Amino acid sequence: MTQAKGAAETSSTMESILDEHRHFPPSKVFSNGAHIKSIEQYEAMHKRSIDEPETFWAEIADQLHWFKKWDQVLDWRLPDAKWFVGGSTNICYNCIDRQIDAGLGNHTAIIWESEPLENGQPEVRKLTYYDLRREVSRFANGLKKLGVQKGDVVTIYMPMIPELAIAMLACARIGAVHSIIFGGFSASAIRDRVEDGKSKIVITADGGWRRGKIVPLKDNVDEALTLTDLVETVVVYERCKNNIVMADGRDHWWHEVISTASEHCPAEEMASEDLLFILYTSGSTGKPKGIMHTTGGYMVYTYLTSRYTFDLHETKPDGNGGAENGDVYWCTADIGWITGHSYIIYGLLPNRVPTLMYEGAPDFPEKDRFWDIIERHQVTKFYTAPTAIRAFMKWGREWIDKHDISSLKVLGTVGEPINPEAWMWYHKVIGNEKCPIVDTWWQTETGGHMLTPLPGATTTTPGSCTRPFFGIDAAVVNSEGEEVSTNEGGILVVRKPWPSMLRGIYGNRERFLETYWSKIEGCYTAGDGARKDENGNFWIMGRIDDVIVVAGHNLGTMEVESALVSHEAVAEAAVVGFPHDIKGTGIAAFVTLVGGIEETDELKAQVRNHVAKELGPISKPDKLRFTPALPKTRSGKIMRRLLRDIAAGREITGDITTLEDKSIVEKLQQNSD
Ligand code: WTA
Repeated sequence: MTQAKGAAETSSTMESILDEHRHFPPSKVFSNGAHIKSIEQYEAMHKRSIDEPETFWAEIADQLHWFKKWDQVLDWRLPDAKWFVGGSTNICYNCIDRQIDAGLGNHTAIIWESEPLENGQPEVRKLTYYDLRREVSRFANGLKKLGVQKGDVVTIYMPMIPELAIAMLACARIGAVHSIIFGGFSASAIRDRVEDGKSKIVITADGGWRRGKIVPLKDNVDEALTLTDLVETVVVYERCKNNIVMADGRDHWWHEVISTASEHCPAEEMASEDLLFILYTSGSTGKPKGIMHTTGGYMVYTYLTSRYTFDLHETKPDGNGGAENGDVYWCTADIGWITGHSYIIYGLLPNRVPTLMYEGAPDFPEKDRFWDIIERHQVTKFYTAPTAIRAFMKWGREWIDKHDISSLKVLGTVGEPINPEAWMWYHKVIGNEKCPIVDTWWQTETGGHMLTPLPGATTTTPGSCTRPFFGIDAAVVNSEGEEVSTNEGGILVVRKPWPSMLRGIYGNRERFLETYWSKIEGCYTAGDGARKDENGNFWIMGRIDDVIVVAGHNLGTMEVESALVSHEAVAEAAVVGFPHDIKGTGIAAFVTLVGGIEETDELKAQVRNHVAKELGPISKPDKLRFTPALPKTRSGKIMRRLLRDIAAGREITGDITTLEDKSIVEKLQQNSD
């Protein structure tokens, strides 16, 4: 399948939003108080950021703390970009110490809330910059005592508690590279990532709370470590006090590690291009890719995108001895995803705005959990995913009406295309028609927002992520790299480097070049299809390769297929996405069984559960259909578009003449999920 054709294949989703013409300009009142106040200001700044990237980014970088200023802003040797070359800084210093240096040590850095415990009350913790520096420094010294050195890869597998933020910031403080694994992943995912990153240390917790139940994190780590012998040290934070086994010599309690550690730990001077973290994301084939992000450029870009996309304002003295209240920001993502890395911690803390972390589900104990949190903490900026918005819609507005959420000022969405219906509901019911919506398009690889409205400047349209951020030269092209005409679908590319772009795939240069730089000469290809309308607004049309985005999470169909085939009864499997009311895209699996094995519902359930065990619950197929064979072309390729039609219950429209055995189509349609 060529890339251009892939884009064309998504045109059915495109048609439904082509006739979307509702426009929502920001209100005068909002624009007046915003950092970027008009579309003219945005356009002038955008032009400058493209024409003179070096002066533009140097001015922004100057707003942050550097031990040593750079000699060169950008060194661009396609496809490798180095930013702030010769400069040294520390992102943890910029997240914490810079605020203390400015006299803000007693301001709140992190607000954390758990899900309600047995007594019906949540735990709430507020950490000031002073608190955070003390805790981060103690843990950083603890890590050093355990032998962790600059450049070592530290695996973190924790629930959404402040210690997760503390662990990642401690790594950054001493120059260790963190590799955070989402707490919903299972043992084999931990094993794969530990081995790929050659990580000798894992930081975890005994468990995490989810809907009143304990997620057995330490047990999962134990299981993973029976599959690999790389790991020498495990640090365990005591969260749930569930029964766990501590391995002698290998496992250490967090509280013991920090008990004798000093509260002072200088932030290590890091070269701008030193590796900050690795974060794994699924590819269309093969194992997950360890996306590499470095220090200086990532820091500057996430700082600026946070500031402008959410129009962040810190609490300031009002001149009369009081204070003008600044923002309280809440991103509902897990820190285990890039959204959490960039827009809960690294981009937010340098902006001096409290960032809220929540450990728990949106519907536990009741479906008004989020609105309750927003009301009590007076949240002003709220960032979530379309999949969550669709769930809120389904639950009904009575849950929102129980609360006063009028503190809200800007609403964000990320992770997948938001359908106009969900956008309008978000706008009316959550935003009370007064909050600008920022639909932010970006990727693990891009580090920060790429296409996004700026709330005081951009006129929004439901379903469009609108315009490029500063420094982003985005275009929609055909497979020859020529820009396509207005409203025509094509491949989304970025033509110039930006500060937070990925620096590589850990340990796999070939795959980096092949995945992002081989499709269109000289351009970064994101793997998404898009179109650009007559107003210069971008509309994302979905993935052009075989990654599917389920509930905002990027899953490789290959990974799910591999997990299916690892079940003893399964001979072959093909996985495709299909439209799903809540998740956006669901997973449909087509499975052939090993000869002689009977097709039963019980086996179906068993195979689905097997995938959940192998890869984690979000990868569990929503539908599974047995079939005597898979539809293949003569050259042996599975015809996925055919399966996509069948999974969606659509008529098969495409060409099937290259199909090896046409009778298989009928058989596939006869069988049920
Ligand atoms: C999709 C998440 C449409 C897209 C930050 C992208 C979106 C993939 C949007 C990256 C959006 C993300 N509109 N699609 N606003 N945001 N996507 O790496 O397909 O988990 O390539 O990063 O999600 O997913 P990732």
